[in-house]
Amino acid sequence: MNESIILGIESSCDDTSAAVILGNKILSNIAASQDVHRDYGGVVPELASRAHQQNIIPVVEKAVTQANIQQKDISAIGFTRGPGLLGSLLVGTSFAKSLSMSLNVPLIEVNHLQAHILAHFIDDANTMPPKFPFLCLTVSGGHTMIVLVKDYFDMQIIGKTTDDAAGEAFDKIGKIFGLDYPAGPLVDRLAKKGDENSFKFNKPRLGNYDYSFSGIKTSVLYFIQKEVQKNPNFIKENLNNLCASVQKSIVDILMDKLEKASADLNIKEVAIAGGVSANSGLREAMKKNAEKLGWHIYIPKFEYTTDNAAMIAMVAQLKLERNEFADLSVGASARYDMEEVFKNKEE
Ligand code: KG4
Ligand code: ZN
Repeated sequence: MNESIILGIESSCDDTSAAVILGNKILSNIAASQDVHRDYGGVVPELASRAHQQNIIPVVEKAVTQANIQQKDISAIGFTRGPGLLGSLLVGTSFAKSLSMSLNVPLIEVNHLQAHILAHFIDDANTMPPKFPFLCLTVSGGHTMIVLVKDYFDMQIIGKTTDDAAGEAFDKIGKIFGLDYPAGPLVDRLAKKGDENSFKFNKPRLGNYDYSFSGIKTSVLYFIQKEVQKNPNFIKENLNNLCASVQKSIVDILMDKLEKASADLNIKEVAIAGGVSANSGLREAMKKNAEKLGWHIYIPKFEYTTDNAAMIAMVAQLKLERNEFADLSVGASARYDMEEVFKNKEE
């Protein structure tokens, strides 16, 4: 078994994170999230890069200390090359390059979305990794897609959003309700106290396995505008029911296509990944399908759902085993093209 120690660094959006992995086991996973964005209702790229610059050294030091290792024990540095905000990615990339040079250890570049999926291979006493081939519904603030995972680095995107991502839909609709950014976790919390059948919103009608979330956002906006005209306290009086109904609609949209893909491809190994995989409605829907459709489901631990460096360290470990190193001239890539990274797209 591989016993290499790797330091992983993640800085693609608004979380500065560092993690240490030994083999497939996480020794530490530290994250500093940035509250500065809350007042602006979304991530402000320039503020994000500045906060990363302030956070990165303390976060890395804490990850190393908590893992109870010394810098000399580190065999390689893994970092998020993209996709993400360029200014944010540049901080992690430059830091990783400098550290790899000063420690004289190899540098390994990681695709952020591949990392959300491969987080399922982190060795955790309570969970089993998925078996290939499996389907992974990857849902975050920036992406929504169904990925057919044939092997660690052999993935095919079979469906994706044509407009907003699922996390973006939660955040934008939450904003209409007056909730702080990021609204996703708040909608989830309030939904628990509401009735999911209170309000109905339109579902998109798209072919194949693609998604669309801009329609539900607009239909909620028009509905709220109309109701608030009649009753200015409409949102306040119905917040829990509104959150529950919106959550149900988004989860239904996500699950419909995932069920279709599972049936068409006859794959019952089904995983979820990314920030929205923390959503309790989505987790519940997966559990129901395990019973109803005989799916073997894989739901990540909460700390590996939203952005974290543990998943980056995991991918770096898999790449170290394959001797896949980055050159010191590597640059951050805001639009790190998934199709380019995920092989066999044309098959
Ligand atoms: O993966 P992630 O941390 O960052 C990106 O790569 O985008 O995902 C962040 C997204 C945000 O849109 C956030 O609102 C959403 O995940 N999110 C949730 C929940 N927790 C995080 N959405 C719904 N329910 C949750 N419990
Ligand atoms: Zn992410």
